[in-house]
Amino acid sequence: MKIDVLTIFPEYFGSIFEFGIIRRAKLAGIVEIRVHDIREYAADKHRMVDDRPFGGGDGMVLKPEPLFAAIEALTGRKGREDRREGVKVVLLTPQGEPFKQASAVRLAAEASHLVLICGRYEGVDERVAEQLVDEEISIGDYVLSGGEPAASVVVDAIVRLLPGALGSETSAENDSFSDGLLDCPQYTRPAEFRGMKVPDVLLNGHHAEIEKWRRQKALEKTKKGPNGPNYGREW
Ligand code: ADE
Repeated sequence: MKIDVLTIFPEYFGSIFEFGIIRRAKLAGIVEIRVHDIREYAADKHRMVDDRPFGGGDGMVLKPEPLFAAIEALTGRKGREDRREGVKVVLLTPQGEPFKQASAVRLAAEASHLVLICGRYEGVDERVAEQLVDEEISIGDYVLSGGEPAASVVVDAIVRLLPGALGSETSAENDSFSDGLLDCPQYTRPAEFRGMKVPDVLLNGHHAEIEKWRRQKALEKTKKGPNGPNYGREW
């Protein structure tokens, strides 16, 4: 998969993709991630990327010209109707669709070239959303100062699902949420620590019993959840 990130703060991404699974996936050629400064695509002499909103109001809005130029240069695409196989242009914005594990699974399967536009300031000129963007994604019901942290979350969730990215092929299937359940509790050595014991069932080597216990605990955890008694009710 090819991932292009468009931002006015390319330094934000510094070494964020240089760790763990993402780094390994890059080195293995499973994903290629490039971060681009939107300013590089601004054609005017001041390289303006934002301007005041028409009709007045606070803040600045990202201008359309640099983003259109960037998308055209990176994808060859002229507008949303100009479909290119596997190309997905995504705008990170608090107004977007909530990003779920299912969204990551779908994008990992559908897209071979992902372009992530990090929104900023008071917003992005609506013509960008209308003409260039296939999907608008929000990572949660809160407002970040820009789409950069959201882009890094989306990249992480997708890259680890790409075939070969995880050491073991089964690991992603066992993730929390992939079957609609939170993960069961995990333990490692020592079997007893400060008087706290690892459940006996995990020590007896009986795999069917262990699986049953894990499933039971995952269900309990999902019902109870981290945020109170109703967490996980939609499942
Ligand atoms: N930009 C600002 N807030 C955001 C959010 N919650 N999700 C995605 N992009 C954003």
